[in-house]
Amino acid sequence: MDLFQYKNAVLHCEDVSIESLAEKGIPTPFYLYSLNTLKTHYKKVYNAFGALQPVICFSVKSCNNVHLLNELAALGSGMDIVSGGELFMVKSSNTDLSKVVFAGVGKSEEEITDAINSGVGYINIESVQELQRVQFIAGNLKRETNVLIRILPDILDEKTNEKTRTGYKGAKFGIDYAEVKLLIRDNHDHPYVNIRGLHCHIGSPISSYTFYEECINKMVQLVEELKAENIFLKVLNIGGGFPANYTDNDNFSWESFAGPINRLLEPYVKNEGFKIILEPGRSISANTGILVTKVLYIKKSGDKNIVIVDAGMTNLIRPAMYGAFHYIWPVHPDVAHVLAKRNYPVEQEGLVKYDVVGPICESSDYLAKDRELPPLQQGDYVAIFTTGAYGMVMASNYNLQVKPAELMVDGDKVYSIRERETQDDLIRKMVKSEL
Ligand code: LLP
Repeated sequence: MDLFQYKNAVLHCEDVSIESLAEKGIPTPFYLYSLNTLKTHYKKVYNAFGALQPVICFSVKSCNNVHLLNELAALGSGMDIVSGGELFMVKSSNTDLSKVVFAGVGKSEEEITDAINSGVGYINIESVQELQRVQFIAGNLKRETNVLIRILPDILDEKTNEKTRTGYKGAKFGIDYAEVKLLIRDNHDHPYVNIRGLHCHIGSPISSYTFYEECINKMVQLVEELKAENIFLKVLNIGGGFPANYTDNDNFSWESFAGPINRLLEPYVKNEGFKIILEPGRSISANTGILVTKVLYIKKSGDKNIVIVDAGMTNLIRPAMYGAFHYIWPVHPDVAHVLAKRNYPVEQEGLVKYDVVGPICESSDYLAKDRELPPLQQGDYVAIFTTGAYGMVMASNYNLQVKPAELMVDGDKVYSIRERETQDDLIRKMVKSEL
């Protein structure tokens, strides 16, 4: 159960009232994370795949605050990274670097060198030329490096947003399935670069376990074919993309999602000592965070009620970019509407249809369209739910907006874990010098 709940008609994060935070003078908008929800979701994912004793590599791109990464590392999590910046962040945390996997189609020479020197667990190889570059760099450094080959399996879940599909033929990710066997055959005995196994990530989020089954079947077929040639792979990384609960109306069960995947992989773990890696992001972080914003103005436009809040696409771009749905509800609705929260039968009476928009000068800057909410007033605080993943990490300074603060609640304690930017930060790097 996510620890964002209404108590006495006021939204709480664990034991802390959101209104009390706003009253403390913390400027809105701000992101707020529930530490114990984060831990619960990590454990849920781990336990769902427990039969495989997986290494969970939390996808840092979904939520990158170092304090949250430290909490996950303390639970045993590794990290999935995609840039030198994420490597730097992970090195600043308590993460065991041997549990780090480094993916991404465009790793630079500097990033590869840094990863090898840092001793990350595995570099996920996404092209033939990248493998050659890793071999060249590892050879120069005389350092052994473990890699996984990312396959492009030609699998498409049409329910996944077009912008977050990764496994279809023609995508920029990974190496065409048909080419992988030859590539491994030709490169398996390099003195410094050990090909330990395969990686795949088919998109995000994926609507059914059947797509993982399809992908794993392709992976194990390669494993078996190579085994027949005395080439032994021992690591399978099946990526992330497991769902989060955006609407609270779904009947998602980890047991039925992970069960068939476990059944396919268990023999490899139990009989052949395979290591299974998972790269979950949103399934751990999304429901862990909310974005708290304040109503600035309310006005009519034609027959629309427009509510303008102080958070916009610069804080949360998912609605503008993907048409994503995020549940929105006031922090302090009148009592009649408290029970209309989330999966309770909605008390339709008295709800008003609003377009919830931000202050940015772009018509795509909206957070919800035609959304039924309790009547709002200027100054009300509103929570935007399930924003712990791909929220703050995708924030920008467009329109010279400062990036918001991040807070973390643990029981009845509240911590600042990232300060709100200042306007000085906006200009700090604009230093003129002759080159
Ligand atoms: N592994 C790889 C190689 C990935 O590319 C991704 C996400 C993940 C793991 C984690 O996926 P997750 O478990 O979080 O779904 N900005 C988009 C999502 C982009 C995902 C990119 N890759 C959004 O807001 O929905």
